[in-house]
Amino acid sequence: MNGNNSQIAEQARALLGATKDFTANMANLSALIYQNTADINWAGFYIFKNGKLVLGPFQGKPACVEIENGKGVCGLCAKSAKTVIVPDVHKFPGHIACDCASKSEIVIPLFKTDGTIYGVMDIDSPKEDRFSQQERELFESLADILTRACGGFN
Ligand code: SME
Repeated sequence: MNGNNSQIAEQARALLGATKDFTANMANLSALIYQNTADINWAGFYIFKNGKLVLGPFQGKPACVEIENGKGVCGLCAKSAKTVIVPDVHKFPGHIACDCASKSEIVIPLFKTDGTIYGVMDIDSPKEDRFSQQERELFESLADILTRACGGFN
């Protein structure tokens, strides 16, 4: 992690340490990411409810409220339990377009401390090929900080 990334991780630890409430923590984490990341137009969460990904706290334009497991980039991330980076969303079959300005996307799985998935963190950019492996590490570590701050979601 570079200096700026470790600063954001430190800010996230401080910001999310105040409560275990997941709505409050996801709201603040989406704002922290949105305010501190260049060239993004959406940052937020989808949380599993009755087998579907349901829209959670976010920053950006209004988005689709429900995503079937396996559908779109978010569904692929949830189903595969792996971070998905899409450099050009127009070349991703089944991409769900919420903001037509989005050109690239990264989706990170959210794991409970018992290893099961409870949702995903989604970040969109109006630039093609916006997300690097280094930022992937940052976002994965922020997802981990979120889970710990919320008491592991178990
Ligand atoms: N593009 C996502 C849907 C969510 S929005 O980008 C906020 C997808 O294909 O899963």
